Amino acid sequence: MPRIAYVNGQYVPHHAAGVAIEDRGYQFADGVYEVIAIAGGEVVDMDPHMARLKNSLAGLEINLPISEAALRMAMLRVARLNRVQFGILYLQISRGVAPRDHAWAEGLRPSLVMTCRSVPMGKMAALAEKGVSVKTMPEDRWARPDIKTISLLPNVLAKQAARSGGDYEAWFVDGDGYVTEGASTNAWIVEGDGTLVTRPLSRAILPGIARSILLEVAARDGIPVREEAFTPEQAKGAREAFITSTGGLVPVTAIDGDVVANGAPGGLSLQLAAAYQQHMADQTANPEATMRGLQGQA
Ligand SMILES: Cc1ncc(COP(=O)(O)O)c(C=O)c1O
Repeated sequence: MPRIAYVNGQYVPHHAAGVAIEDRGYQFADGVYEVIAIAGGEVVDMDPHMARLKNSLAGLEINLPISEAALRMAMLRVARLNRVQFGILYLQISRGVAPRDHAWAEGLRPSLVMTCRSVPMGKMAALAEKGVSVKTMPEDRWARPDIKTISLLPNVLAKQAARSGGDYEAWFVDGDGYVTEGASTNAWIVEGDGTLVTRPLSRAILPGIARSILLEVAARDGIPVREEAFTPEQAKGAREAFITSTGGLVPVTAIDGDVVANGAPGGLSLQLAAAYQQHMADQTANPEATMRGLQGQA
């Protein structure tokens, strides 16, 4: 099955897909992106991803190059053409192609690219079962991490530094000593009394879609939540800690080498991970089969 990419209205073999070398995304990281989960063959949570995409575009004064309806159809078509059952859809919109100049000319046609790929759910499930370690680093990103731009160099360097030290994720810590978020995840802790704590939305963090869904799940299930910044020390002393992204919830079992609680994934983390998977599965034609797939049992 050849992989198919979408490039400015064309569905092309992945290996032959390309953009112009003067694309402003390539030269200036002048663009935005979304990563959307595919579960049971469906593109899930399209509405909140579309809303965030439009916010990010507005933040950079870039227009959607095609109608929202056409974009939604193209997203589904890319997923179908690639026959991905469990994986991710990557969507990127840059300001367009122009002779290199920091200031942009009016009237550029934004470039729209989409790819998708399968993700082995067994590996994801193993990660979630075991938990991961994180390493804290000084926050050194620009002042608008709430805009999902493709300008990700600090995130890339932080993630790489974490990985080369044997950790899975980096947590950025702001000048006041509070965790902002992970290099590609939102950060959470569970306090001794079972209260979920995560940083409130502001310009300092990306409004994660998984974050918003977990807050809905917590409200539905009567789990107490406080949207408040926390320090690495608070996290180390917490009952549980975890990270979220579109891919799911992963328990954090160590921070800067210090074990969280007993070093095993916490009960509430595992309960919420399953609730998030159920939320995805409920958007598909066969929720039971999708749940098995998400849990790596397909
Ligand atoms: C910096 C950052 N924070 C948080 C997230 C989680 O967002 P979502 O739940 O929408 O995947 C991501 C996802 O890529 C991210 O890059």
